[in-house]
Amino acid sequence: MDTTLIKTVNKLQDAFATVGVQNPVDLPQIVVIGSQSSGKSSVLENIVGRDFLPRGTGIVTRRPLFVPRKLMYLPVTERILQLINRPPKLGNGLVDAEVPKGDDLNEKENGNEENKEEWGEFLHIPGTKYYDFDKIRDEIVKDTEAKTGKNAGISPQPINLRIFSPNVLTLTLVDLPGLTKVPVGDQPKDIEKQIREMIIKYITKPNAIILAVTAANTDLANSDGLKLAREVDPEGARTIGVLTKIDLMDQGTDVVDILAGRIIPLRLGYVPVVNRGQRDIDTKKTITRALDAEKSFFENHPSYRSKAQYCGTPFLARKLNMILMHHIRNTLPEIKAKIQAALVKYQVELAQLGDPLGDSGAHQANIILNIITEFCTEFRTIIDGNSNELSS
Ligand code: GDP
Ligand code: NA
Ligand code: MG
Repeated sequence: MDTTLIKTVNKLQDAFATVGVQNPVDLPQIVVIGSQSSGKSSVLENIVGRDFLPRGTGIVTRRPLFVPRKLMYLPVTERILQLINRPPKLGNGLVDAEVPKGDDLNEKENGNEENKEEWGEFLHIPGTKYYDFDKIRDEIVKDTEAKTGKNAGISPQPINLRIFSPNVLTLTLVDLPGLTKVPVGDQPKDIEKQIREMIIKYITKPNAIILAVTAANTDLANSDGLKLAREVDPEGARTIGVLTKIDLMDQGTDVVDILAGRIIPLRLGYVPVVNRGQRDIDTKKTITRALDAEKSFFENHPSYRSKAQYCGTPFLARKLNMILMHHIRNTLPEIKAKIQAALVKYQVELAQLGDPLGDSGAHQANIILNIITEFCTEFRTIIDGNSNELSS
């Protein structure tokens, strides 16, 4: 995630916190949709830059043996990931009261000092900090099984994971199951309808940014993700097309026509990516190495060489950052108006009371207004510097 954006949003949030306003900017949720196995979880992990989601065959959920092997990874519940920015500890030797010492098993096992600023917590296991992201994935698998039982039905309770880190933007991402056309095992007959309704529920929210994932080795016209996105966002104002598995396309074929908007145009465009394949996952290829491989794939491919800067996970992340930045900038006038109204109210009240303690409320509101004005300028500079990337 982009550090400029993280810093800017933190500054804004800190400023508001001083006058007792928490989370003034309601950031959009990022929702990932698409067919089963199109690469949704892989895309999300790459954006977050951490391995913790169950992906691929046999990893996600162990199903009863009568289920065909290729359907074993049925994801049956939504996973809500809340990234929460937490500034790094001050390097001044003060004890951080929030990190328990001694009684934390994960911490003892991990023993890695530099990782202690980043951890996960599940809503269903309050108070336990997971410093080992492999254990987070194990817990997601365990909880998915517990919640959905043997029939691979839909769980009414989402899995809610919070990741605390100095390197993330406070943001919510939602990993959704793919549409299942044919019930498997003893899944309910209307499983497709149930999953559809779940997806629609999330992407209908006007502040949801939809990542519509389609595997590049499948037909774009049949893309479940794009079809669903169109239903709720016909203008394409908040849908980004993500094309995965570019590396698995037949030789001599590419997605250049799609990227150019000649197949199904999307206002915010498409981003081609190469995630880790099943073999990479089995051999535990790290995200860093995978991102390097992705970069060199696009830089060396005859179809993408000339536009490699508009390809891959880093470009997708930048595109998301730009959309978030625009969103924040667009909400600033509204926040400003609210504060101005509060300021007027303060001044009227103070005039009536003849407050002997001075007008500290009005003073603070004025400070905030100055900060917002400063932010508007700062955002404009950042956005103008990057805006060509949004409409590539
Ligand atoms: P989801 O079901 O949509 O969440 O898909 P996953 O992220 O679990 O990926 C499904 C399978 O496709 C896994 O085996 C991944 O390793 C593989 N996969 C995903 N994206 C890519 C890609 O870009 N290239 C290759 N070769 N494999 C991919
Ligand atoms: Na898919
Ligand atoms: Mg998945």
